[in-house]
Amino acid sequence: MSQASQNTKSAVLVIFGASGDLTRRKLVPALYHLACAELLPPGAQVLGVAIDELTEQAFRDRLREGMVEYAGIEPDLHGLWPRFAQRLSYMIGDFNDPDTYRRLRERLAQLDAAGGTGGNHLFYLAVPPRFFPMIVRHLGEAGLNHTQKGWTRIVIEKPFGRDLQSARELNEQVHAVFGEDEVYRIDHYLGKDTAQNILFLRFANAIFEPVWNRNYVDNVQISMLESVDVGHRGAYYDQAGVLRDMFQNHMMQLLSLTAMEPPAAFGARALRDEKVKVLSAIRPVDVRDTVRAQYRGFWGTPGVAPGSSTPTYAVLKLFVDNWRWQGVPFYLRSGKALTSKTTDIIVEFRRPPLQMFDLPAGQEYVPNSILIGIQPDEGIHVKFQAKVPGSGREGKPVDMAFHYRSSFGIEKLPDSYEHLLLDVLQGDASLFTRSDEIELAWQVIDPVIQAWESHDEPRLVIYESGSQGPVESDEFISRADRIWCRGCTWHESVQ
Ligand code: BG6
Repeated sequence: MSQASQNTKSAVLVIFGASGDLTRRKLVPALYHLACAELLPPGAQVLGVAIDELTEQAFRDRLREGMVEYAGIEPDLHGLWPRFAQRLSYMIGDFNDPDTYRRLRERLAQLDAAGGTGGNHLFYLAVPPRFFPMIVRHLGEAGLNHTQKGWTRIVIEKPFGRDLQSARELNEQVHAVFGEDEVYRIDHYLGKDTAQNILFLRFANAIFEPVWNRNYVDNVQISMLESVDVGHRGAYYDQAGVLRDMFQNHMMQLLSLTAMEPPAAFGARALRDEKVKVLSAIRPVDVRDTVRAQYRGFWGTPGVAPGSSTPTYAVLKLFVDNWRWQGVPFYLRSGKALTSKTTDIIVEFRRPPLQMFDLPAGQEYVPNSILIGIQPDEGIHVKFQAKVPGSGREGKPVDMAFHYRSSFGIEKLPDSYEHLLLDVLQGDASLFTRSDEIELAWQVIDPVIQAWESHDEPRLVIYESGSQGPVESDEFISRADRIWCRGCTWHESVQ
């Protein structure tokens, strides 16, 4: 996956929505890093398309500023920017005007000839979702879904639909123009090294998998907690809410990686087949097994409707009805405007059948657990009981830790967009979401959204901005005599 390789083919990367935030914050910094590391084929070109009246120079300057501001990159440091900037060009275009696509075809022909791109074209839809069907249709009508030589691929950003029905319709619209193997639905969580490491932990080792099932696991907790609030994205977020924004995509992906069976091979088809099996086995969520909440102050955000009941925090308890996970609860929670940013997965194990050692006075037994830290604690922790030195038979939970930074001597992991862009250029769809996966994930989440929107059950609760979240979240999990991240001190040991 994502290594410098002769499989990385040169191409013209056409970014629709090139004047927007995603291009500046993520796509161009990722491409720049790849170019600096000589992972981007020398002939590869970027052509931005957007409605803004920008000259090519203004476009380049804007991207350069974005790299400094958002990605902390100093483009002049190694003198590489001027060479990289040569590869960036811009075209003004209305996405709904056939003439845009006629001109695009001409530009592609010029760039192919100049850059030796082999006729490979990659279309990246970095635009609001209402433009997805329109751009796809126009690409088809202009015959840009095929090239005479080379390949054509399309990358589609999230959100892919806003419910099951619209996701199905969008899949149909896309399939009318592109084959499924040409479509790369992006979920940036899958590009994170730490998310991919779930597979390594489970399937590159022999010691974890034998206990990774209902016989040993008591419960699984996946938390995606954010300190940021919705910021300037009020209008989008008020329409989306936390279930569409975080659960249908990122959360369902982390759950699938954690719960899936070992694939027969490490390839797109086998991997995605196994994820699909997990999603199909999720029992319909009982709304009584949910918590929905909103941070105080959300109403004051520009773009948010007065009196909005959009949730910014949610807890769901799910069950995966298959042989491996029958009866094991998966607790999922995500929210904004919380104390700190943490994404992790905790697999908590059952207690030993017999408790023959004492606990330090006043302390409860802390079960064994494995924590997979996605961010910012990028690593893995195993918590187990050890004998307190000098005591007769007193045990205490201790932590065995692996951290990317110390083990691999790196300060910062590559951004997920670097992995994912390289994968698209290599034609590796393993870390992209297939059409059936998207629909199954909606099938899990959509009924909860609908139930929440049509009944006032469970009631929307308010939590303080900058807090740990609503007390109802703690109360909910404590009803099953569990707590979030039980006895958790892991994050204190981030190196
Ligand atoms: C995005 C959501 O998909 O993921 C955002 O739209 C969220 O609301 C972001 O903040 C979180 O991503 P990361 O990589 O910062 O955890």
